[in-house]
Amino acid sequence: MSVEKVCTDKDFIALKNTIFKKTSLDCNQYKDPYLQRRFGVRMRAHGLQRYSDYSSLLCSNRDECEELMRDLTINVTQFFRDIPVFKAIEDELFPLMIYRKVIKNTPRIRIWSAGCSSGEEPYSIAIILRELLGEEFDSFTISIVGSDIDEECLMAAREGRYLPRQVVNVPKPYLEKYFSFDGQMYQVCPEIMDMVEFKNVDLFSSTAGTGYDVILCRNVVIYFTKDMQERLYMKFYKALNPDGYFIMGNTETLVGEATRHLTSIKSRERVYQKIVE
Ligand SMILES: C[S@@+](CC[C@H](N)C(=O)[O-])C[C@H]1O[C@@H](n2cnc3c(N)ncnc32)[C@H](O)[C@@H]1O
Repeated sequence: MSVEKVCTDKDFIALKNTIFKKTSLDCNQYKDPYLQRRFGVRMRAHGLQRYSDYSSLLCSNRDECEELMRDLTINVTQFFRDIPVFKAIEDELFPLMIYRKVIKNTPRIRIWSAGCSSGEEPYSIAIILRELLGEEFDSFTISIVGSDIDEECLMAAREGRYLPRQVVNVPKPYLEKYFSFDGQMYQVCPEIMDMVEFKNVDLFSSTAGTGYDVILCRNVVIYFTKDMQERLYMKFYKALNPDGYFIMGNTETLVGEATRHLTSIKSRERVYQKIVE
């Protein structure tokens, strides 16, 4: 019997309430089918079929609460997540990058948001770039790729529609300029949407390509083994152009051989640069 079939709505709601009591995580911020998939995975791991049984397990097992939290937050993202990081990108990194492009007469910018979830990160990057380039926008060729392994997230990203709570960090002038609001959802404007291409890429089974000016891989690798992280960071290093930036999550740490090749230029914001002598 499938997990979903034996569960009533009442049990599902009660389970969400238990999770809130035990972890302070408000499950209502997630779509129900997403929650059902994640709960299903954990319940199968314990041989359980009823939400009520899983609820009881959570009440008595702290480790399971933590395991579930890790599962649930895996797709969490936000526009301009970690404001100081995006401020550094807007005020320092991108102006310098654009300056270098102008000086060298190489008006092509390639950016990769690896593990982009539902698209907030690459769209934030596109907004910043659009703002900084102003009237020079048309003289640049821009490619921003958002990639993820989760096709459902990518479908949401391609729609570009977000709830008010998902855009809370967007500076007000940008919200007014680059989004439309229909009373319920914010829609990213076509100009910004056209700047970003979404691809289904498994970071471990595909090649990264080369020629990127910026790679962001933020809040993705925390569940990967150290060995996998080391391989991934080297992959990013090789994919970057000289002077290119690698930006990781605030709680993540560069490990392995890449630490010898990527120079930390903003430690708090976890920004590294490929400096080639
Ligand atoms: C917490 S989100 C991070 C989103 C965004 N980078 C941010 O910092 O807000 C992590 C994303 O990594 C994706 N992911 C996990 N493993 C992956 C893999 N092997 N290849 C590609 N994406 C992966 C997940 O599907 C999820 O959408």
